[in-house]
Amino acid sequence: MAKLPIVLAPDPVLKAKAKPVAAVDDSIRRLMDDMLETMYAAPGIGLAANQVGVLKRVLVLDVAREGDAPTPMGMANPEIVWASDELSVYNEGCLSLPEHYADITRPKEVRVRYLDRDGKKQEIETDGLLATCIQHEIDHLDGVLFVDHLSALKRNMILKKLVKLKKQRAEDGE
Ligand code: NI
Repeated sequence: MAKLPIVLAPDPVLKAKAKPVAAVDDSIRRLMDDMLETMYAAPGIGLAANQVGVLKRVLVLDVAREGDAPTPMGMANPEIVWASDELSVYNEGCLSLPEHYADITRPKEVRVRYLDRDGKKQEIETDGLLATCIQHEIDHLDGVLFVDHLSALKRNMILKKLVKLKKQRAEDGE
């Protein structure tokens, strides 16, 4: 496995729509494994392929609590096939927008269909943090960031700070 560089916002690859994968082959499995390693090292609980500069509909997640056994998940071509009318609010962050958080409202429960790491069709219904995380990551695959759910004023404030951070990092030679 290999740790991949995480793309920081604003960046065109984070605004692009990722393409479905034809099949979960060894290259996709390797991408999932590398993305998991990258996510754990960050550390984070979810990562979409756009965030490592790959425009394929692949995401990884692990919402296990610290101290609990890890529950790594890889999804290809994930699709929300049902969402509850009931909503929930979660204070979201994102590895592509380090140190920024905001309360985001999303459906509380979702049913999602995807291909797992073995290429097997799966369908799960879930709520809580996993439901929030899946929706956040599928947003990434559609070129949507959590700040896109905020007002333009709040979004631009955060993005301006990130432009500064990226400039600073470039000057530091990181
Ligand atoms: Ni994110």
